[in-house]
Amino acid sequence: MTPLALRDFEAEARRRLDPAIWDYYAGGADDEVTVRANTSAYARIGLVPRVLRGAFHRQLAVDVLGHRLSMPILAAPTAFHLLAHPDGEKGSARAVAAAGSLSIISMAATTAVEEITAAGRSANPDAAFWFQLYLQPDLAYSQAVIERAEAAGCSALVVTVDSPVYGNRERDRRNGFLDLPGLLVAENTREPLPTGEWGNPRSIGFTGDLSWDHLAWLRTATSLPVVLKGITHPEDARLAVENGVAAIVVSNHGGRQLDTVPATIDLLPAIAEAVDGRVPVVLDGGIRRGTDVLKALAFGATAVALGRPIIWGLAAGGEQGVGDVLSILRTELDRAMALCGCSSVLEVSRELVRPAPEESWSRL
Ligand SMILES: Cc1cc2nc3c(=O)[nH]c(=O)nc-3n(C[C@H](O)[C@H](O)[C@H](O)COP(=O)(O)O)c2cc1C
Repeated sequence: MTPLALRDFEAEARRRLDPAIWDYYAGGADDEVTVRANTSAYARIGLVPRVLRGAFHRQLAVDVLGHRLSMPILAAPTAFHLLAHPDGEKGSARAVAAAGSLSIISMAATTAVEEITAAGRSANPDAAFWFQLYLQPDLAYSQAVIERAEAAGCSALVVTVDSPVYGNRERDRRNGFLDLPGLLVAENTREPLPTGEWGNPRSIGFTGDLSWDHLAWLRTATSLPVVLKGITHPEDARLAVENGVAAIVVSNHGGRQLDTVPATIDLLPAIAEAVDGRVPVVLDGGIRRGTDVLKALAFGATAVALGRPIIWGLAAGGEQGVGDVLSILRTELDRAMALCGCSSVLEVSRELVRPAPEESWSRL
């Protein structure tokens, strides 16, 4: 059966993957309340279209930190693509680049950052990449990883701030899925050697005392724009802007870190209000339909990012599968815009969505 929707890729990925690997990708923390909330929240929000606006041609392109993207849909950083398909991170990077979009490369990728950017650029010489970092307690080592990502051509550093400790993933604990199987390693965690080469991998550590002081350190460590990923509180969004970040990613880590964090779409309006257009706001978590993208844009996101759907595409059909996922979502967004009377993503506004998330969130 030809997959028509992102959920078809999910079903196919589930059929193809070993159950423990499926659980690693699909699962979340504790009771997975947030995993479910991220997707179900979209069903509560209605679209109220405008008509007679002549939106015959639609413009989906957006500018994010100096990159012109063909659509407001990026690839979120996700670990371990080689567990899903032999095309791995290179396949996903090629598909995202060919779609004119941007990949955020995970520090926990099973392919070296240099190979991922090269693969993406082979599909599209203008392809853009950001590098996601879990800041390591050993700052000299973090610095080496950052310099490696810079040298590989990444144009921003995305620091994940929702992970001072690892979330309680009970599916993985029950399955005994506690490390990468076989010969796979997280390639971007290798030890820098005096020869300039990369030695044995280190296991990823978490910085338990992560604070705004680390952000000041990061500024000394890199001239790349710094993006904070994992902002859910409007006050932190405000502090992020005041501390000079280039962009934020509103994210609850796809429900994999703290359980019972509300759906990101419910948190977005208050955050967009706090940011007030000063930096781009990317939202991830639960995006499965073009109408979800439209709702995120309407509540103030500049763009959205996809986590699991990229992995489903990869597991179901390798590079081609990721390309199909992106193309389906693009078509759905374009259709939703036409039906809402929007000829540009910049025209998507709050008047199209009812109801806004509860008052209580905007008063946080
Ligand atoms: C299998 C998997 C691995 C992930 N690995 C990372 C990672 O290495 N770094 C990171 O910042 N976020 C990671 N995330 C979180 C994603 O970047 C993103 O926040 C989340 O998947 C978005 O939700 P969605 O899966 O519903 O689209 C991971 C998510 C999944 C599902």
